[in-house]
Amino acid sequence: MTLKGKRILLGLTGGIAAYKAAELARTLVKSGCDVRAVLTEAATRFVGAATLQALTGQTAWTDLWDPRVADNMAHIELSRDRDLIVVAPASADFLAKAAHGLADDLLSTLVLARRCPLLVAPAMNVEMWSNAATQRNLLTLRDDGVVVVGPAEGDQACGETGMGRMLEATAISQEIEAFFQPKSLAGKRVLVTAGPTSEPIDPVRMITNASSGKMGFAVARAAREAGAEVTLIAGPVVLETPAGTTRIDVRTADEMFDAVKAAAQRCDIFVSVAAVSDYRVANPVAQKIKKGARRGLKLELVENPDILAWVGKRRGAPFCVGFAAESDRLAENAKAKRAKKGIPLLAANLAQEALGADDNAITLFDDRGEHPLGRGPKIELARKLVAHVAAMQSRRDSRR
Ligand code: CTP
Repeated sequence: MTLKGKRILLGLTGGIAAYKAAELARTLVKSGCDVRAVLTEAATRFVGAATLQALTGQTAWTDLWDPRVADNMAHIELSRDRDLIVVAPASADFLAKAAHGLADDLLSTLVLARRCPLLVAPAMNVEMWSNAATQRNLLTLRDDGVVVVGPAEGDQACGETGMGRMLEATAISQEIEAFFQPKSLAGKRVLVTAGPTSEPIDPVRMITNASSGKMGFAVARAAREAGAEVTLIAGPVVLETPAGTTRIDVRTADEMFDAVKAAAQRCDIFVSVAAVSDYRVANPVAQKIKKGARRGLKLELVENPDILAWVGKRRGAPFCVGFAAESDRLAENAKAKRAKKGIPLLAANLAQEALGADDNAITLFDDRGEHPLGRGPKIELARKLVAHVAAMQSRRDSRR
């Protein structure tokens, strides 16, 4: 629960996406945030202050001159105890005002007078988004340290299609979580493999490993939250790409190996979470094998390349992290696997406890011994793993 206790000022400006901001308010409150809403006059045309009030359990503010704040100081008072101001939806007009320091209503005045960071989720028509003035304003805001999340591409309320849709509430909430994570991997390039591989027998049958890819995707998300540039090589999985990562989809172990070879040269850290199939069928056939067509059908299997071992043995290898799913004798097997692969860090879990689930229990093994990370949601374990990798990296860097 990384958002628990965080104090957020949620600003809403005029736009149809304001209805998603109501959902965002709800999501943040459910995550344990204290949410104070401020609506511009235009925002109240799309969603009522009463809605935000009910969802946040506190007054929703709209007026610069609200007499309930002492000495007409609403523009100062309402943001002083906040950890972050989030403006969602952020209209083109709001972005222009924020970029130029204009302050003519409660929200823009609060933003100008703030001491805390600002995160904006733009929402507007595609032409407004691509207009040079808006793009110039975004550059200015980014230069000023404002965090811009989204927008997404797709159908718009006006009937046009393109960039400008506000991110969904859960995506914005994840970006807020990311904002609060320590940037322990800033400037690092991280390569992650995730999911199973699938080795064809014929066009409709395959050999694969049971793996949902959730742990690998959580590692990619956690690394990006920690400030790394992340490439995620994924086997066949049905998961959304973590925001801000570059995803490459592959099917077979050979395809994964090729993708890793191409990316490994330019990465500092390689986290091999994929459940790579150890074997593939020697001669997959192009036509579907018919029932009874081959008596006593036998499959000849050949071993797949060990991708992690290949990366680990390269000259100038990145910092390598392996994963081991064991069914028993976790510590004994994990230590042997770490030694065999010659890698500095191995994360081990019991396969029967993790498969497909959102929770896991992981123990790390390194040159200093055994470090249980406990049980919890995969994203929280991934963040602990990332923190451990960052600590090992900085010890290495300081020895150099
Ligand atoms: N791995 C890999 N390429 C393979 C097989 C595994 O990169 N062909 C990586 C996995 O991503 C994981 C680690 O190696 O990080 C797992 O090690 P491995 O010894 O292959 O584990 P198991 O397949 O579980 O080994 P065993 O069946 O011997 O327990």
